[in-house]
Amino acid sequence: MDLKQFVTIVEDWPKPGIKFKDITTLMDNGEAYKYATDQIVDYARDREIDLVVGPEARGFIIGCPVAYSLGVGFAPVRKDGKLPRETVKVDYGLEYGKDVLTIHKDAIKPGQRVLITDDLLATGGTIDATIKLVEELGGVVAGIAFLIELSYLGGHDKLDKYDVLTLMKF
Ligand code: PRP
Ligand code: MG
Repeated sequence: MDLKQFVTIVEDWPKPGIKFKDITTLMDNGEAYKYATDQIVDYARDREIDLVVGPEARGFIIGCPVAYSLGVGFAPVRKDGKLPRETVKVDYGLEYGKDVLTIHKDAIKPGQRVLITDDLLATGGTIDATIKLVEELGGVVAGIAFLIELSYLGGHDKLDKYDVLTLMKF
């Protein structure tokens, strides 16, 4: 299945000059969403994954059905102040300024093999922060899966030492 046909390119959003990749038209198509999810599940099955981790919000959309299908748990990475118990935190860079991502301290047991999921790799700031959280808790990043990579932004360079699956490149 050619998944790109389900991604809607929105010109000049959220600001002039940006061609936004809207995945909602992939998610609201049952066949396309299932196909994309199954591709990631197949990739994960070969890597003996114990836990899926994804950053809010769109990382949940990708990671939760994969975790369900694998029969493993899902641990959310969230913006600061959203998780109720003890967390570890990491600063990460945004286009303008920075933000903080967090995960519950007991979400990962040392040595667990983790699949990280997100919808999109752009500059790599979000995935880099998520990797740092997983590794700080002793998790092993056994795979990273994206629907989309924006190759021209070079985020892939941050992931040289990891095993990465990308379903679509723009
Ligand atoms: C988007 C996207 C990725 C991230 C990619 O998330 O879902 O998580 O940007 O960009 P980067 O590689 O430059 O970090 P966003 O922060 O817009 O939040 P959302 O998932 O909650 O919509
Ligand atoms: Mg996101």
